[in-house]
Amino acid sequence: MPDTKILLPESEMPRSWYNVMADAPSPPQPPLHPGTGQPIGPDDLAPLFPMDLILQEVSGEGEIAIPEEVLDVLRLWRPTPLYRAHRLERALGTRSRIYYKYEGVSPAGSHKPNTAVPQAYYNAKAGRRRIATETGAGQWGSSMALACSFFGLECKVYMVRVSYDQKPYRRMMIETWGASVVPSPSPDTNAGRTMLEQHPDSPGSLGIAISEAVEDAATHDDTSYALGSVLNHVLLHQTVIGQEAHRQLALAGEKGVDVVIGCVGGGSNFGGLALPFIRDKIAGADIEVIACEPASCPTLTRGPFSYDFGDTAQLTPLVPMHTLGHDFVPPGIHAGGLRYHGVAPLISQLMLDGLLRPEAYRQNEVFASAVTFARSEGIVPAPESAHAIKGVVEAAKRADDEGVERVILFNLSGHGHFDMSAYDAFLHERLEDHELPEEEIERALRAIESLPKPAATV
Ligand SMILES: Cc1ncc(COP(=O)(O)O)c(C=O)c1O
Repeated sequence: MPDTKILLPESEMPRSWYNVMADAPSPPQPPLHPGTGQPIGPDDLAPLFPMDLILQEVSGEGEIAIPEEVLDVLRLWRPTPLYRAHRLERALGTRSRIYYKYEGVSPAGSHKPNTAVPQAYYNAKAGRRRIATETGAGQWGSSMALACSFFGLECKVYMVRVSYDQKPYRRMMIETWGASVVPSPSPDTNAGRTMLEQHPDSPGSLGIAISEAVEDAATHDDTSYALGSVLNHVLLHQTVIGQEAHRQLALAGEKGVDVVIGCVGGGSNFGGLALPFIRDKIAGADIEVIACEPASCPTLTRGPFSYDFGDTAQLTPLVPMHTLGHDFVPPGIHAGGLRYHGVAPLISQLMLDGLLRPEAYRQNEVFASAVTFARSEGIVPAPESAHAIKGVVEAAKRADDEGVERVILFNLSGHGHFDMSAYDAFLHERLEDHELPEEEIERALRAIESLPKPAATV
């Protein structure tokens, strides 16, 4: 029987990140200044980010070298294993061959440290002393806390209120790695105070937490802002996942892959796995690339492509992306990391170019797939990653219905050890499915009606 775990030695860790901008068919449209509506340049971003990261954000170079100091830390858990899901295949009764890249082996339990570490490194190198950031599920906040502890930076995390309440152990992890954490909206910023005055019981959202962290960074000279998804440099750092998977599939004897699947919140784990395969697709390979999102926050399946703010308080630049509107507050579903109104401009553009397609699922069917996975492969997946598993179940079924055998690869972006209350709700039939009413989408979209439109929609 073919191996279950396909492992790479440390010596084969990727030494550079892959930048899809070098190969993408459409050049990315520029971010716009929130005040003037004009394209912004590197200097406009300098108060928030160190110059090395800004240059990566706009780079057109195909390969960007990973600094030794970053490799030294990534080596603690990379290369991550690729698994052949023999037991899931049997549980599904499929003829397809299913592989998953397991990012839950990082200290924080997800893919997020892959970018937290370089972000902390470049900030420390630029002489910044402190990082302000937001967190949805708590995965990013804990990853940034971990990375800051390695590079001697202070870290303050604005944690979306519902996750703060649902996930006390994530908060404790953040504190264990030496960062401070407050529930968002918080009384510590203007953005948080305004929101609390209007909605004292607000469950919070990533959009609100981003406003708080950006305001914190903009009002403290020694502080940078760090974002765990969406931006080009974040997706760039995550491409170690897909590059490793590429080599591991070859080691497993596969000549190629037919379907690549990831869940999408802001787009970073999906991009990290998929972009190196999209490079093959651009070069002519026949690969289906599927982005899986929650039906309650259907950014790619139902949101238009538009310029929009990355945050609720309209502090960030305007970026061209699929969006549900910056004041959209998704229902408090348990996949906290997928509750974001927008998605990476890179992923949005690649979707417009026909290089990937989205699917949306309801949370009960997602958890049913997660439990099938846990009972066959053993690992309890993060609820976010479980959306990718549901995508795999569907892709395997399609292949079986068509009578073909496909090679299916997906990203198991994290484990769900701190999400057991969500499993409890599912197992005891307390989990509700939220299908978003069209009126709510229309209401949220009114907030972006007056914003500039990117070229593709004109
Ligand atoms: C385990 C896990 N997977 C996926 C996501 C979604 O984020 P992204 O789309 O940036 O990968 C998150 C976000 O917190 C997460 O924690």
